[in-house]
Amino acid sequence: MKVDKVIAAEEAVKYVKNGMTLGLGSGSTVNWFLRKLSVQVKEGLQIQGIPSSKKTERLAKELGIPLIDFSATTHIDLAIDGADEIDSSLNLIKGGGGSLVREKVVDACADELIIIADATKMVSQLGAFPLPIEVLPFGFEVTVENIKKLGGIPTLRRKDDQIFVSDNGNYIIDCSFGPIDDSVTLHEKLIQMVGVIDTGIFAGMADKVIVARNGGIELYSK
Ligand code: A5P
Repeated sequence: MKVDKVIAAEEAVKYVKNGMTLGLGSGSTVNWFLRKLSVQVKEGLQIQGIPSSKKTERLAKELGIPLIDFSATTHIDLAIDGADEIDSSLNLIKGGGGSLVREKVVDACADELIIIADATKMVSQLGAFPLPIEVLPFGFEVTVENIKKLGGIPTLRRKDDQIFVSDNGNYIIDCSFGPIDDSVTLHEKLIQMVGVIDTGIFAGMADKVIVARNGGIELYSK
């Protein structure tokens, strides 16, 4: 039986049209989307993608998906991305893979953003998944103290016993705030802090969310 992430990815390919410039998100669900997309590309579909992470760039290249960057165009027709949490208003927490800043740049300039996920990502309220916050390495200790003052419990992300470094050369603070009542206000308070590059709150950005649950598709629209 196909896993739900694959089913959501397959559904998203149906929204891709010939000639489109695509924003390519990051994460395991998007990786499935890239595999499915590459089959269509081999069959003649003409698209070009702007990747939102080095991992996505690597896989897309391996799969033969034509890539460009923002020096070629600043217009994206459709971005396909994953998420770590999705609430009923389609606000998101992203950044579990550490690519939140590039994902936000790519997703924000797309005419349409479609999020693909399995049903485990749907929540009644954001916040069970610790919020990823990308911060400047210089003085990150100060930024951590400032985040604590907002009521968060911050953890510096590590990978293989080393501090995790994003594609932009920054650190990620995973921060538990408990259930988030107002994600927009929380994001605004964090983004104003010196040293904070961006947060994993993607509020009001998703146009559609394709959720696969027990082999079936649910479509949520803005
Ligand atoms: C990457 O930084 C994230 O925002 C991913 O899009 C998110 O973690 C979803 O990942 P999966 O598709 O692997 O669940």
